[in-house]
Amino acid sequence: MGSTVLGAESVAAARAILKHQKIDLLLLDLKLPDGGGLVLLEQVKALHPDTAVVVMTAFATVASAVEAMRIGAGDYLTKPFALEELTTVLERAGQRRHFDMESRKLRERLRTQKGAGGLVGQSPEMEKLYRILSKVAFSTHPVLILGESGTGKELVARAIHFNGPNAAKPFVPVDCGSLVPTLIESELFGHVKGAFTGADRMKEGLLATAEGGTVFLDEIGELPLDLQAKLLRALQEKEVRPVGSTQARPISARVLAATNRDLATMVEEGRFRRDLYFRLNVVNLRIPPLRDRREDIAVLAMHFLERMQRESGVVHTFSDDTLRVMTEYDWPGNVRELENAIERACTLSSGPVLHMGDLPTQLQDFRMQRVPTTYASEQDDSSQERPGGGGDGGIVSIAEMERQAILGTIRQLKGDKLMAARLLGIGKTTLYRKLKEYGITEGLGD
Ligand SMILES: Nc1ncnc2c1ncn2[C@@H]1O[C@H](COP(=O)(O)OP(=O)(O)OP(=O)(O)O)[C@@H](O)[C@H]1O
Ligand SMILES: [Mg+2]
Repeated sequence: MGSTVLGAESVAAARAILKHQKIDLLLLDLKLPDGGGLVLLEQVKALHPDTAVVVMTAFATVASAVEAMRIGAGDYLTKPFALEELTTVLERAGQRRHFDMESRKLRERLRTQKGAGGLVGQSPEMEKLYRILSKVAFSTHPVLILGESGTGKELVARAIHFNGPNAAKPFVPVDCGSLVPTLIESELFGHVKGAFTGADRMKEGLLATAEGGTVFLDEIGELPLDLQAKLLRALQEKEVRPVGSTQARPISARVLAATNRDLATMVEEGRFRRDLYFRLNVVNLRIPPLRDRREDIAVLAMHFLERMQRESGVVHTFSDDTLRVMTEYDWPGNVRELENAIERACTLSSGPVLHMGDLPTQLQDFRMQRVPTTYASEQDDSSQERPGGGGDGGIVSIAEMERQAILGTIRQLKGDKLMAARLLGIGKTTLYRKLKEYGITEGLGD
């Protein structure tokens, strides 16, 4: 195997070697003349975590082999053993070591801010996600990516593909939600020339185009039931039958799927095939909503701010107020909503500091709900006749929006009602009638 082998006949001799040399693999007997191998194992795991350890033990001491595995040995051999057994165990250890190092490297890359795949976030939830991600990137099983809208499902799918061994092969996203149902089949599986009206040449399906790469089936919950059956067959048989063809064509792409729907419930309700669900759900990656990992909000916000800065060359910072409100807000649209809010703020702001006023209205309304009660009750006075009353979670009726628009415009124009009517695109009489409805007879601002 092209390895250098060093021998040590005691714990002390082994320690001396380990002190000066980097050892890839340690084959360790648990019974040594000057002490127990378990103690050495513990030290090795603490000081040289990269060293793989295989323990050797006599049949009578299998219990200690179990203990050794618990401490961190990768494998064990029961004495006496055949040479082939040793070779197999060593090969396995070598492979595992390679895999562990790759996955650790990837995890490190993902952890750093501008990590592979562009995933940002250091919350325990994201760390957990990176751990799973670094493992699934090296496998070929389907992965089902779950998460609310805007949590980063597509980004995660890309990270899986671009960190795996087939990164150079195509990554083909398929949006099952936006494809016209009648066209999905030929999009996915392809069609032959003349398969239907308009099919004037043969077309390769997306599953086949991804040859050796990854097909990302986005919004899989939207796939019609008949196509779910066809997709399942394609995944099981590893072949597709283009529309209008009698001949199957082999496919070799890995499949990743994503949805923001509750597929398990859809299965219960008969809206999603159970067998396809099981097929896709070999591994599932659940991306938590942003409100469940608030420590990521500021990190992501800074990331988007820096990106804007690179694009526009303009340096922006957040006011304390802005950053605090952003951290407290619930972000129903998750990372995408945050990204949009920051891009908008950078575009709107007149100076280098982004203020509350630069944030989208939903965040400003959110802050208004949180202001001290004295301020809030003042607010309530002016909106007593608001239809439906307050406490409705920031939802404003159209009548209320109209009222705010009319009164706001008149106030801005310092009481010029004629001009206000013109700007609002309503007649003068309508404006006066509305004002009367609001119980306002005095001019505003004049
Ligand atoms: N952890 C993250 N780090 C950096 N950017 C992120 C992260 N998560 C999401 N984004 C960004 O947020 C936006 C939304 O992400 P993405 O499109 O992957 O979400 P999604 O879950 O597929 O959303 P939808 O359900 O609406 O399709 C993208 O611009 C993406 O780059
Ligand atoms: Mg998406």
